[in-house]
Amino acid sequence: MVKETVVVTRRIAESALNLLSSRFKVRLYDSDEPPGSEWLEVNIGDADGVLCMLSDKFDLDLLEKAKRLKVISSMSVGLDHIDLDAATRRGIYVTYTPDVLTDATADLTWALLLGIARRVSEAERFLRGGLWRVAWSPNFFLGSDVYGKTLGIVGMGRIGYAVAKRARGFDMRILYYQRHRLAEDREKDVGARYSALDELLSESDFVTIHLPLTEQTRGLINEARLRLMKPTAYLVNTSRGAIIDEAALIKALRERWIKGVALDVYSVEPLPKDSPLLQFENVLLTPHIGSATIETRKRMAELAAENLVAVLTGRLPLHLANPDVVRVRPLG
Ligand code: GLV
Repeated sequence: MVKETVVVTRRIAESALNLLSSRFKVRLYDSDEPPGSEWLEVNIGDADGVLCMLSDKFDLDLLEKAKRLKVISSMSVGLDHIDLDAATRRGIYVTYTPDVLTDATADLTWALLLGIARRVSEAERFLRGGLWRVAWSPNFFLGSDVYGKTLGIVGMGRIGYAVAKRARGFDMRILYYQRHRLAEDREKDVGARYSALDELLSESDFVTIHLPLTEQTRGLINEARLRLMKPTAYLVNTSRGAIIDEAALIKALRERWIKGVALDVYSVEPLPKDSPLLQFENVLLTPHIGSATIETRKRMAELAAENLVAVLTGRLPLHLANPDVVRVRPLG
């Protein structure tokens, strides 16, 4: 029997590759760098499955070249890099890797929140720059308290909820906003109060974004909404950059409408070297590393491989992003 061909667009955990190569012919782009659109176009043509990353764009053009493709398994929770409707129309199953990265991403959110409130990277730059001359002084590198403050969580899905759980340890008042209110017991478990977005923005000392990027959320945090925030408040984003209007954010920083910003994600990644965001001391920037722990990346790779194997062996995957596809091309 001819083995199916599976494309893997990046070097991933050995255990996940073994799972795939025990069943399929694996065509690996053996690098930590993205393959580029030409390689993808050539290699997707006869592939039955692909295990991809969030930086591999699966738009209509690429999908049209994928003549045999049955599954796109993304090693990510976000799916804004894939044209889901086009995939569904073509009977291509799209899978993703939620849950396994929830805690790592919530932890990074907290690292950023604490880091910006206490000016950690700014202070380190200062020290490494040889500028530390006075041992201790009462007004030296003052940041803001975190404990007892109000935390506004925009998007209370898995990651937002995990951020809320951690906030309890800091005795914070928690507001949250999303389209649908949580069940009362879920709210009670973390002590979170449902709020309108504008109220959340104007009351919170820390605002953290945990939404998927969709047509509805693109640019949600725009100039008018940034203006609602307190001048003492901080904004944190570990979800997708384009949810914040970056030009408006730069204006907010220049005109000091808010106190500081911590970002792991950007509207263009990698962040361009001439981005004005790099000029502000009160901006903490990390390079899209929300889920980047050894343990989490291994679990993500294994889950992505399992999802792919499931579809190609005629079983429903654990995490299917486009359930309507089952009617277009039933499994089995
Ligand atoms: C990371 O941003 C992901 O979507 O997994």
